[in-house]
Amino acid sequence: MASVWEDKASALQIPPGRFRLGDPRWLLELRHLPWPMDWAACFGRDGPLHVEIGFGDGIFLAALARRMPEANCVGVERALEPTRWALRRLRREGLENVRLVLGDAFAALALIFLPGSIAGLYINFPDPWPKARHHHRRLLTPAFLQLTAHRLQPGGTLLIATDDVDYALWIADVLRETPGLESALETPWVHALPDREPTRYERKALAAGRVCFYFVWRRNGPVPAPSLPRIMRPEEAMPHRIWKGTPELSRVIEALRGRLWQDGETIWRVKALYRPVAEEGLLIELLMAEGQWVEQVALRFQPHGSGVWILKPAEIGGIRPTEALKMGVRAVARAIEEATPEFQVLSSTI
Ligand SMILES: C[S@@+](CC[C@H](N)C(=O)[O-])C[C@H]1O[C@@H](n2cnc3c(N)ncnc32)[C@H](O)[C@@H]1O
Repeated sequence: MASVWEDKASALQIPPGRFRLGDPRWLLELRHLPWPMDWAACFGRDGPLHVEIGFGDGIFLAALARRMPEANCVGVERALEPTRWALRRLRREGLENVRLVLGDAFAALALIFLPGSIAGLYINFPDPWPKARHHHRRLLTPAFLQLTAHRLQPGGTLLIATDDVDYALWIADVLRETPGLESALETPWVHALPDREPTRYERKALAAGRVCFYFVWRRNGPVPAPSLPRIMRPEEAMPHRIWKGTPELSRVIEALRGRLWQDGETIWRVKALYRPVAEEGLLIELLMAEGQWVEQVALRFQPHGSGVWILKPAEIGGIRPTEALKMGVRAVARAIEEATPEFQVLSSTI
């Protein structure tokens, strides 16, 4: 089996030696941020919050920040390479009122932005996933747009642009069904918006003669709170269980491989098992889905002193202390106990 570290590095496609995440001036990693984030403290001043999702090379975000010097502008992007381009642009232009957040848009909106806090939210040319079997990967689902509407302040604006006709019709349908939103225009969309800084994708689409669709919607009423993962109480310890005994790892692997557990809307699946090269034990990759919220976490099953073993969340990937994580650790612990009946529990928080 490949080493854990080799596997994770290639999955993240980190260009060796070319990218440093720790540029505290502009770049923040979602997994290290408090929930919610104190944006006024982060920018050193109060200001209307404008957020761009999937900022790509950052050209639109930079233009936004230049045009609205009074605004606190936050970009959220999950891919490293465009984040690197955008970071270079911000450095070059020396823009002070922008922060980049590296992480998933759904998690970012849910965790670091308070309800009713965003004045303007921009989603330019989200990946259209044109094949029907890939539609579930589209960002603009009913749950995502409800969360978006919930985070907008009353009267706040949501701007979406796409050049994909099918996605545009899908977006129009979902927007219409999202409570608390209405079009700020006479029509659900328009084909041109004056005074707009075209994004990289937009320039390509226009150069190829494709028609663009621009949605400008506004929060005009109450939005029911979206259903989000239940967060553990802050005083609770990260879930873990400690046993006395020595497991036969081949039996534990057999008991865990491909396992799936379900409790109502929540599903846990053992996605992969790794045996670290230089250490004893197992790294368990667990996929957790709570409705629309999907997370992949890593658990470690390893020695914890002589003749004692522990199961606990690993540091890799920034673990969120949700109830689902706790229940996932409990399900894995039970499977380990089935494979190792001689294990005696020494302590457990699950
Ligand atoms: C088609 S590109 C458009 C980039 C840019 N907005 C433009 O118009 O040139 C879509 C961007 O959204 C980002 N993205 C897709 N899903 C995302 C998610 N769930 N969270 C954050 N960024 C996401 C992708 O990494 C990619 O950079």
